[in-house]
Amino acid sequence: MIKLMAANWKMYKTRPEASDTARDLVKSLEAMLPDDREVLVFPPFTALYAVGEAFKGRKNFSWGAQNFYPKEEGAYTGEISPRMLAELGCTYLLTGHSERRHVFGEGDGLVADKTTLGLAQGFRVVMCIGETIEERRGGKVEEILKNQLDKGLSGVDKSLSPERLSIAYEPVWAIGTGEVASLDDIVQAHSFIRQQLGKAFGERGQEMRILYGGSVKPDNASEILGLDNVDGVLVGGASLKADSFSRIVLA
Ligand code: G3P
Repeated sequence: MIKLMAANWKMYKTRPEASDTARDLVKSLEAMLPDDREVLVFPPFTALYAVGEAFKGRKNFSWGAQNFYPKEEGAYTGEISPRMLAELGCTYLLTGHSERRHVFGEGDGLVADKTTLGLAQGFRVVMCIGETIEERRGGKVEEILKNQLDKGLSGVDKSLSPERLSIAYEPVWAIGTGEVASLDDIVQAHSFIRQQLGKAFGERGQEMRILYGGSVKPDNASEILGLDNVDGVLVGGASLKADSFSRIVLA
């Protein structure tokens, strides 16, 4: 399975900054990127074209959008449709990110619509799930993950090819806090997610990638990537500098 090494740049970087970082990533990684690693960057909308210019035509370099509205077109002020993103060469979409759920109030219904439409329009989708610290303390991790998976994937075509859907497990309390989930917590959550994907997609569920996200850094990436059912990482803060993200990609 090709490990998916994804960078979420969130609301950071102007167009020239993004362009420089993307070009630096190509410089430091292209010659030594193993065949089983794919680099994926989610820049802000305004930098998608620039990142596309830096990455296009390069094997195993992809770019995608952090957000979109799940309609073809219409009177949706401020929103961007999947079709507009396809035009920028994006092949990936991110759904269900904790900041969309908690800062912008996106519920499971909207996450499901976005995941379903994004896939139906031919994109690869990375759907994020994860529990809050209260839910973890209350012993509800599996219940929350099951619920987010069941609802988020409810409309998805079950005969989908496995490389088109990835799940990112991002415990909310580990995002941007420097507090990484323990290796045992990650193994347990990922094995539970694998089981649920098997129930939903049968054999195909075994081949879907499950990423870990939450305070991944160059010095913890290799042990995380070595765990069972960890098929990649989704990195925020440590992906903003080309040097640090390159070290993660090659970890
Ligand atoms: O989507 C990536 C993410 O939310 C993790 O952020 O800064 O903890 O790596 P960070």
